[in-house]
Parts: sequence; structure tokens; C-alpha cells
Amino acid sequence: MNHPSSAAAEPAATGRTTVITNIASLVTNDPSLGEGPLGLLQDAAVVFDGDRVAWVGPTSKAPATDNRVDAEGRAGLPGFVDSHSHLVFGGDRTAEFNARMSGRAYSAGGIRTTVAATRAASDEDLHANVAKYLAEALRQGTTTMETKSGYGLNVEDEARALRIAAAHTDEVTFLGAHIVSPDYADDPAGYVDLVTGPMLDACAPHARWIDVFCEQGAFDGDQARAILTAGKARGLHPRVHANQLHHGPGVQIAVELDAASADHCTHLDAADIDALANSSTVATLLPGAEFSTRARWPDARPLLDAGATVALSTDCNPGSSFTSSMPFCIALAVRDMKMTPDEAVWSATAGGAAALRRTDIGRLTPGTRADLTLLDAPSHVHLAYRPGVPLVSRVWRRGVCA
Ligand code: NIG
Ligand code: FE
Repeated sequence: MNHPSSAAAEPAATGRTTVITNIASLVTNDPSLGEGPLGLLQDAAVVFDGDRVAWVGPTSKAPATDNRVDAEGRAGLPGFVDSHSHLVFGGDRTAEFNARMSGRAYSAGGIRTTVAATRAASDEDLHANVAKYLAEALRQGTTTMETKSGYGLNVEDEARALRIAAAHTDEVTFLGAHIVSPDYADDPAGYVDLVTGPMLDACAPHARWIDVFCEQGAFDGDQARAILTAGKARGLHPRVHANQLHHGPGVQIAVELDAASADHCTHLDAADIDALANSSTVATLLPGAEFSTRARWPDARPLLDAGATVALSTDCNPGSSFTSSMPFCIALAVRDMKMTPDEAVWSATAGGAAALRRTDIGRLTPGTRADLTLLDAPSHVHLAYRPGVPLVSRVWRRGVCA
């Protein structure tokens, strides 16, 4: 991959250890290493040993290593952790987006268009699509990306989607309960039986998580609870599409079942905010969806002020949010969701890691994964200050420069 704006070419890597020096401002997300919740360090250096961070500190104290990279005053931060996407799909929904931008409302029903296209796609095409959007995200600084099934909606196509997803990422989510399958249009209860029975049997071995779209026109609270509970019994951990289009029971069910994350959280009442703040369930906000559906923004302020953990993700999917750009989501969150730049950057890195219950990513401190993004800017604040500008200069994932 070419990075025309990256630092001057360094000699080819010759050993296991690499130091990156002259990082004007480094977000570590380890408050013991630097200032504030971001653990911000000025004129910093980071040492990688293979795929791990071995040392973080001032450039003046950087130890000798096999390889040396000069960041030349760029800002550094942990690779983004995008904890919510739907990358296993065929076709696109350009016409639907176009109609929506002419005034038509978004509804869960559009998912059926992608189900038909996904079922018709070959394995090869689906693999290529997932790889394409992961590579696109990596170029924009994302080093971990969760992705879901949910456009198969029968046993064979859901299991196929998960097998394909698992070939590209460790963070795989079974979303057979995205909407009631068109094959069961007149028998939603029969579809819930399928999802909690034969479909779960076929899908559980390929996934880490189970998700439900708890929403009018998709699954109600009782159905969501039944599906998530069945998944838990099979060793899958819950995450929930909750309170996206309307207020509903999704957030409360997520907290009740100790879901890792309640995603969207656009329509919350005081009890929802309180429940999230007093739980380990992360509130994952997905501003790309509100942008692309011209919907009301989720308000991060009451969540943050109540003490809830907030993550930011793209929700990359062909219907409601066709962006793979975490920098874009950070800019939206700062401009329209009342987050400070520091909060948004934390949510896009450490927050995403919390939503995946991971401590080895989203931070740069000895022992974490060597995932680092350098910006063609002196500070992480520029991610919001310079919206739409391709600031990502270089990305290391597992210690390898992409
Ligand atoms: O997160 N809300 C449900 N699922 C997706 C939309 C999927 C689609 O429209 O294809 C979302 O926004
Ligand atoms: Fe989603």
C-alpha cells in the first residue's frame, strides 16, 4: 500500500524491535503514562517488539532498537477499534440512499434488499468485499474491526457469512436476528425458533458474539431476550442493536443480560442512561447511521456525565451507514453529539476496546498490541478540527507497517 504523505522512507526492517521517535503528541490511553484520561505524552517514542508494545516514553530516553522510524513531529494514537460493522454483504443500496436524500424515511425493511443480493453472491465475492472494506478502514487508521452476519437469514447463508467473516477478523457476531427472514414473513415466532435452534447450532462455532436488532419492525423485547439468552447458553456473548429508531426495551435488556455493548442508543430515557452508567455495558454510538439517514443525533453528553462508557463505531453497512471512516465518525461526534475531541478519540480507541471486552488493544502501553496510527498533524484534535481531510499517514498493525 502506498502512503505518499508518510514519513521519509526508512531502511527495511531487519530485526524484531522498532522504535518510532519524534511523535509530537502521543495518545496512549494509559493515564499512568501521561496527562489526563488520554495519557497524553509530548515528544514521545514507542518501541515495538514483534507484535507488542515494549516501551513508551520520551524520545530523549528511547532505547536502542533494530529499526528506527522518525515520525517527524506527527501525532500518534492507538489504532482505531471499530466495534460495530456489517461487512458481509452483496450489492449496494445507492438507489435507496438517493431516495432517502430526496425525503423518503429509513426503515428496517431495506435490509431485505441486501439479503437477496447477499444470498445471490458467491463466497469469493463476499470474501473480496470484506477484504476491501477492511483494507479501506486500515488506510483510515482502523486496526481492529468487528463484523456481523445478518444478511443471510437462513441457516446456510448465516453460517456462510460467519465463516467468511472469521477468515478476516477475530471479532465475529452472529446477527441471524437482524430482521425476520423474508422466508418467515408470516411466522415470526417460527423464525425465532429457527434462530435459537438450528441456526444457532450452525453459527455458534464461528462467532464470539450474538446480536439482535431490537426495534419496531424487527424483534421485540421478549424475542430479543429469548434469542440472546439462547446464544449465551451456547457460549456467545450478547451485544444489542438497541434504541436506534425509537425508544424501546433494547438498552434495558442489554444491561440485564450483561451485554458487552448496547449499540446506537439514539432514543434513551433517564432510566436507560442510569442503567448504562451502572453497568459494564458500553454505549456504542454510531453517528454514520444518523448522518446517512438524516436522523436525530444520539446525545453523548448525558451518558458521559452520568459515567457511562461510550464507544464510537462506524456501523459500516450498505443501508444505513456506508462509511468505514472512524475519523469521520469522530468529527461528527464532536460537531453534533457534544463530545470533546479528547472524548471522541478515547471512544474510538479505548471505548471500542471496552465494547469488545478487550484490554490488549485501544491503548499503547507495554504489553498491548503494536497497533499505532500516525497523523499528518501535530495533534489528535485535528481529527475533528480538519474534518474530511485524509490525515492518516502511517498505520502499524501487530507491529507491521501497513
Ligand atoms: O445498524 N439497525 C440495523 N442494522 C443496520 C442497518 C442495516 C441495513 O440497513 O442494511 C444498522 O444500522
Ligand atoms: Fe448495525
